[in-house]
Amino acid sequence: MFRNATAICLHLVGPLWGKKSGASLTRCLHQTFTMAKRLQARRLDGIDQNPWVEFVKLASEEADVVNLGQGFPDFSPPEFAVEAFQHATSGDFMLNQYTKAFGYPPLTKILASFFGKLLGQEIDPLKNVLVTVGAYGALFTAFQALVDEGDEVIIVEPFFDCYEPMTLMAGGRPVFVSLKPSPTQKGEPDSSSNWQLDPTELASKFTSRTKAFILNTPNNPLGKVFSREELELVASLCQQHDVVCITDEVYQWLVFDGFQHISIASLPGMWERTLTIGSAGKTFSVTGWKVREYGGMGSPPSTIVGGRGWPGNPERVWLGPQGPHPLPMFLVQVGWVLGPDSLMKHLRTVHQNSIYHCATQCQAAVAQSFEREQLHFGQPSSYFVQFPQYIQRCRDHMIQSLQSVGLRPVIPQGSYFLITDISDFKNKMPDLPGAADEPYDRRFVKWMIKNKGLMAIPVSTFVSVPHQKFFDHYIRFCFVKDESTLRAMDQKLQKWKAELMP
Ligand SMILES: Cc1ncc(COP(=O)(O)O)c(C=O)c1O
Repeated sequence: MFRNATAICLHLVGPLWGKKSGASLTRCLHQTFTMAKRLQARRLDGIDQNPWVEFVKLASEEADVVNLGQGFPDFSPPEFAVEAFQHATSGDFMLNQYTKAFGYPPLTKILASFFGKLLGQEIDPLKNVLVTVGAYGALFTAFQALVDEGDEVIIVEPFFDCYEPMTLMAGGRPVFVSLKPSPTQKGEPDSSSNWQLDPTELASKFTSRTKAFILNTPNNPLGKVFSREELELVASLCQQHDVVCITDEVYQWLVFDGFQHISIASLPGMWERTLTIGSAGKTFSVTGWKVREYGGMGSPPSTIVGGRGWPGNPERVWLGPQGPHPLPMFLVQVGWVLGPDSLMKHLRTVHQNSIYHCATQCQAAVAQSFEREQLHFGQPSSYFVQFPQYIQRCRDHMIQSLQSVGLRPVIPQGSYFLITDISDFKNKMPDLPGAADEPYDRRFVKWMIKNKGLMAIPVSTFVSVPHQKFFDHYIRFCFVKDESTLRAMDQKLQKWKAELMP
């Protein structure tokens, strides 16, 4: 309905002031604000460019592009989550009011008991749990609470792209260490478990200034699930150098091929120095609104309705009591951090002086969804069991389809994503249009959007600038997509394959 703040203001004041004054208000709102003093805070220097905006915009400008770039499911969340949300919005009127600043008590309680069992830890809902605005909020709060001017923060690349700006905004210095693939047998597909950290290089990154190590398992964009041995190495270095581990485990339920997700906080001596971050958006497949709004695509939140059932239940078209229900966007705004009180008390200080409080109804819906999952835990009826099985089939579908045109996917063991090697294209068509210093993967994605109607994200977006040249022959696809989207992808790829024929 309202495209931007200007439109909202005009809508509100236009009728009162009359058309003429509404027009002059438009002019006034569109004038650029300038100031003799430096306007933006120095902490924003170098982080104001966001490549996502560029690629999403490009895809929206072309007709009929299949968006396999952004990480969101394009199907409805599970019915129990939708019902939990409806219950939260139509039940107890007190859920319209503030709850406890650090988390709605039933949510902190269920998170404590659910994750306490997984981590083998007695978790106190008041001292060891903080509810945040998504995992983004959890990460931001953790960086602000712990990273100081000049502190070094070790980031494993390729990495989820916000870790670097969040380190910089806190005044820290990012120190990068790359996962590198070992050579594969000729003809063998590469696998994300084949990408490893060199132990000597890793150890060399720890110094007396290192404050935090950022771990992400399963990893975005590679889909790597860190093994126990790899985690033990990280744990021993963190302990040796007295470093905090911030571990982003938002994809912990999305693990394939019998691989097992291990939380580093469950390893001996690690709970005391680890912050474990989770996301309701990723846990219950409701990442939606943020992404749509981000790219300026789609309808405003209040009018989008869920049509397709989640693919574990493909026949179902969910209709709520009053017709199609609104997607429970509110679940996306819930994330959490778990950790020892000695660390958490500093996160609470940031939280109470910034966000202060997360929407109560959303927290109630997430609490109810976790309560349901706790009852079904480990059983075939559990969403955490069913969903990865479904998503693994989507992954396999995408791998086969991409291989048909000569792309070489690196098989992921977890997450929403896979990266694919485009070296063969880089060799055959090295001179794709673009700026001279523009990494090849970015030029390739632009070419693919325009000429093949498929959108992916260049992997150089997920690495530090000096290392982009080592990763510029990979692009990232998201396979957490509805069958109809995967079929649309197949049509594009079949056409591409036909064009490759001599
Ligand atoms: C690795 C990783 N961490 C955190 C997030 C943010 O999660 P949320 O939507 O809960 O803020 C994402 C979202 O894409 C992610 O991929």
